[in-house]
Amino acid sequence: MRGFRSPHLLDIASLGRQDILQVLDAAEVFFEVSRRPVRKVPTLRGKTVINLFYEASTRTRTSFEIAAKRLSADAVNMSVSTSSVSKGESLYDTCKTLEAMHPDLVIIRHQASGAPHYVASKLRCGVVNAGDGMHAHPTQALLDAFTIRRAKGTLEGLSIAIVGDIAHSRVARSNAVLLRSFGCDVRVVGPRTLVPPRFAEAFDVRAFDRLEPALEGADVVMCLRIQRERLSAALLPSLREYSRTFGIGAAQLALAKPDAIVMHPGPMNRGVEISAEVADGPRSVVLDQVEAGVAVRMAVLYLLAGEAERPGVEAEGAA
Ligand code: CP
Repeated sequence: MRGFRSPHLLDIASLGRQDILQVLDAAEVFFEVSRRPVRKVPTLRGKTVINLFYEASTRTRTSFEIAAKRLSADAVNMSVSTSSVSKGESLYDTCKTLEAMHPDLVIIRHQASGAPHYVASKLRCGVVNAGDGMHAHPTQALLDAFTIRRAKGTLEGLSIAIVGDIAHSRVARSNAVLLRSFGCDVRVVGPRTLVPPRFAEAFDVRAFDRLEPALEGADVVMCLRIQRERLSAALLPSLREYSRTFGIGAAQLALAKPDAIVMHPGPMNRGVEISAEVADGPRSVVLDQVEAGVAVRMAVLYLLAGEAERPGVEAEGAA
């Protein structure tokens, strides 16, 4: 198995279908590794991965760290709040400083759309986008695709409803690009203030401002977090009103196919965009997404930094 053509993973649009399938297939191997009693392989021994997160994260940062460690890479988490960024050091100087320590990969999350692209243009090592502003979250879309393919057996031609704060969502954008490349019927739905007018045209999806037509016959219901930190009162006057109109509870889920799965990238606002009953119910794959996150990020690190033709999946110390 060969790595990506690019040394970076910055967005889904830069990947072809074959690249995406390559990640998902490699992730199947690492998914199995992650369920072994000894969850470690020597694939990236001697490599160094730096996590550089300018925004809060639980799932993405932890799973990149675990992924790197399961591949035997040295993983370093740089805490922006306790670093020299808090003294005013620029993104450029921070990255050049880290580069001088010879990492193989820098994983970056930043509040500014395009920051990972800027960093990639300045560094000699590989860069992975772990979420930039409202622009892209490519590894989230890949782990979502992995979860959907495991649940449904295919990605081809499914009906996927993405519900909620589309405007501020890098998850919605990356998922729309990926799922459309597999011929999915992607429907985005939310209040008019949270679905940009040109979104449907730009991403070749269908837009709705009512739940019923968007959920009808859906194979997958993907709830999005209401991003309170990026919202103004003019966009969403009341969370209670939002929950009543666009929240996913058992009654709303009944509009989708009987075997539809429910996804959420996390963190969830329970009782706002998703009810606790649905989040914890039998059709929820929220924790499957988290488990997939480690396997998919192992696959991404391997494809970007690995040198083997095949994933080195023999246990550490095996002949
Ligand atoms: N889905 C996601 O990106 O979660 P975190 O913000 O916790 O990383």
